Amino acid sequence: MSQRESGYARKERDLYETPEWVTEALIPHLPLPSSRLAVWEPACGSGKMRDALMKSFDVMASDIALGTDFLLEQRPPWPVDWIITNPPYELATEFCEHALRLMEPVGGLVAMLLRTDFDHAKGRAYLFRDCPAFSKKLVLMKRIAWFVEENGKPKASPSFNHCWMIWDWKHEGPPTIAYAP
Ligand SMILES: C[S@@+](CC[C@H](N)C(=O)[O-])C[C@H]1O[C@@H](n2cnc3c(N)ncnc32)[C@H](O)[C@@H]1O
Repeated sequence: MSQRESGYARKERDLYETPEWVTEALIPHLPLPSSRLAVWEPACGSGKMRDALMKSFDVMASDIALGTDFLLEQRPPWPVDWIITNPPYELATEFCEHALRLMEPVGGLVAMLLRTDFDHAKGRAYLFRDCPAFSKKLVLMKRIAWFVEENGKPKASPSFNHCWMIWDWKHEGPPTIAYAP
């Protein structure tokens, strides 16, 4: 997810790498069955999130830079149970819509890393307030440092709050809110 006012030039195609702790924070909040699931990471970039997901899932990863435009895929290239990614900022709404469309027929789950106020827009009520699959908002209480020095210290103070938005076509009832870490 890009940081528009980070003080750094925007990276080409919004290639921002998600730190491992952000993906790890999601896992305990997912309805994990006893069998190992297949997850599609459709905007994998350099593979940071893919690598973190591989600890818990069988992961199929793709990216437009590797030849697969997610928004043009009419079905998952492999049979997958869930879709999890950090979408490009400029296409975040389209990614959520498309992932939900692809997962509905298999009763699958979608988790997207997004700005915390992404669900505030009235124009996105169909994805949240009015979407029966919207199951959980997982607020990240720590801000994500997208740019770090070699010693691991942030290059600049992170200025945005993020959350995981989770939709599950098997979910029933109203969405819940949770906090991590
Ligand atoms: C914010 S980065 C996320 C990288 C990775 N998911 C991570 O969290 O470390 C967004 C990625 O989306 C990819 N991308 C942009 N448009 C895309 C599209 N239409 N289909 C697939 N990937 C796309 C970019 O190439 C970039 O790698």
